[in-house]
Amino acid sequence: MILDETITLNSGVKIPKFALGTWMIEDAQVAEAVRNAIKIGYRHIDTAQAYGNERGVGEGVRTASIDRNKIFVTSKVAAEHKDYDVTKKSIDETLEKMDLNYIDMMIIHSPQPWKEVNQSNNRYLEGNLAAWRAMEDAVSEGKIRTIGVSNFGQSDLENIIQNSNTVPAVDQVLAHIGHTPFNLLSFARDHDIAVEAYSPVAHGAALNNSVIEKMAEKYNVSVPQLCIRYDWQLGMIVLPKTANSEHMKENAAIDFEISEPDMDLLRRVKPLDYGDADVFPVYGGKM
Ligand SMILES: NC(=O)c1ccc[n+]([C@@H]2O[C@H](COP(=O)([O-])OP(=O)(O)OC[C@H]3O[C@@H](n4cnc5c(N)ncnc54)[C@H](OP(=O)(O)O)[C@@H]3O)[C@@H](O)[C@H]2O)c1
Repeated sequence: MILDETITLNSGVKIPKFALGTWMIEDAQVAEAVRNAIKIGYRHIDTAQAYGNERGVGEGVRTASIDRNKIFVTSKVAAEHKDYDVTKKSIDETLEKMDLNYIDMMIIHSPQPWKEVNQSNNRYLEGNLAAWRAMEDAVSEGKIRTIGVSNFGQSDLENIIQNSNTVPAVDQVLAHIGHTPFNLLSFARDHDIAVEAYSPVAHGAALNNSVIEKMAEKYNVSVPQLCIRYDWQLGMIVLPKTANSEHMKENAAIDFEISEPDMDLLRRVKPLDYGDADVFPVYGGKM
């Protein structure tokens, strides 16, 4: 079953390849969404300090129908934390808020603070290394099992690879039909870094694209299923977001195969119009 599939990260830690994204799910609602997802079979939940719902995600994990150690929990160090002590403290706060003894994976949310994304050339090389050292130490202390990054481009990754003792286990990046970072995918493959695809449904924008719609019809699947399967066939870990149990089931029902010629067509789909989501830095320009 898709939801049971795992890969082994370069750190030796196993990670389920299908996750529930929780961005924009309110803290008060997210525990129930997490419990429902776990009942359906999800084994990987993705949150972040910046989502303001770590408390609820932790509650959902603690009160789920299966043992905590069967669930892979990811959170992210806020993009603004570019200092050892601040990062260390924030990890302790995450553990406290989630009320968990350990987090499976912590990720640096972005190489640049959000305010500077797409606005500045400062890549915070020293700051990211300082945050990284705090995360490495949290692994040694048993607070985190493995560590990764998000929104890191090749030069950001090279900074960590060349100047630290740990190659990031994952890079979580924007990856969907119409926006696939092919060069980064090949760099990551060469360095044994797993790629996680965030916004596989383009934050909903894929629902209004006629090429994608037509292809979904051909396979007799929904647009979200086609989009998620596309990322899956490119070898990425996928994290669609939904608080709706029916959507959770539908999104995980991707046991079909997109043919190579059709994958080629999808690889060439033009950038999508993100509509209102354009105001978010991750959609506002090239990361
Ligand atoms: N690292 C980063 O910087 C970063 C940035 C963005 C996102 N992320 C992660 O990636 C996750 C997913 O990204 P995302 O939230 O931007 O977008 P997404 O998963 O691409 O799309 C979510 C949107 O699609 C809808 N949707 C999902 N499944 C559907 C279905 N089966 N039928 C109809 N509509 C469906 C959702 O509505 P409903 O809720 O109504 O189902 C929601 O509006 C986030 O939650 C977060 O965990 C990370």
